[in-house]
Amino acid sequence: ESSFIHRFEPARDAGSPPLLLLHGTGGDENDLLGLGKMISPGSALLSPRGRVLEHGMPRFFRRLTEGVFDEDDVRRRALELGDFVAEARQRYGLAAPVAVGFSNGANIAAALLLLKPDALAGAILLRAMVPLSDPPKVNLAGKPILLLSGQADPIVPASNSARLASLLSEAGAQVGHKVLPAGHQLSQADLTLARDWIGKFA
Ligand code: MLT
Repeated sequence: ESSFIHRFEPARDAGSPPLLLLHGTGGDENDLLGLGKMISPGSALLSPRGRVLEHGMPRFFRRLTEGVFDEDDVRRRALELGDFVAEARQRYGLAAPVAVGFSNGANIAAALLLLKPDALAGAILLRAMVPLSDPPKVNLAGKPILLLSGQADPIVPASNSARLASLLSEAGAQVGHKVLPAGHQLSQADLTLARDWIGKFA
C-alpha cells in the first residue's frame, strides 16, 4: 500500500527538476509548496503527507523518542515512499525527483537515499540526522546532495550531521554540507543556498 495523500503541481519549465517535498513533524502536504516554488519556480512539485501519526501529527516514520528512531519502521516507510514516488512518476510523467526534506522529511529522504538510491536524482536535506544506525552499503556515485545544518540545533547534534555527511560522501555522493548560524528552524540562508544549488542542478 503506497498511496499517500499528496499535492501535485505540474512543471512550468521542463528544464527544472521535479521536487519531492517532505515536510517535518506535524506538517502536511501543503507546507513546503511555497518553499518549493521559491527555490525552483519551474519545477513540478510532488508533496506527500507522512502516513504515521504521533499524537495527531503527521510524520514519515515512527520514533521512540525525539532523535531515537524505530528503525524497522524507517526502513519499511522509506521503501513505501519509494513505491509512491515510482507510481507518481508514471502517473504524472516525471523524471526522478530531487527530494527537498525538512527535519523528519529530511530524515526519510536520507533513508530513501540509503535504501533505494535510484528513487532520487539528488536531495536537499534541511536539518537531517543519520536515519539508520547500521546503514546498508550503497552506491551513491555522483548523486548531488546539499545538507544544511543549524549550528545551534537542539535536535541534531553537530557530530550527527557531520556523520551523515561523511556517510553519504563515502557512498560516493557529491555532498555539500553547510552549518548555518541557525537552530532547527529554517533561516533565510537555507532558502538562498537551496535556490542557488537547485539553479545549478543538472
Ligand atoms: C525525527 O523524528 O525525524 C527528528 O527528531 C526530527 C523531528 O521530526 O523533529
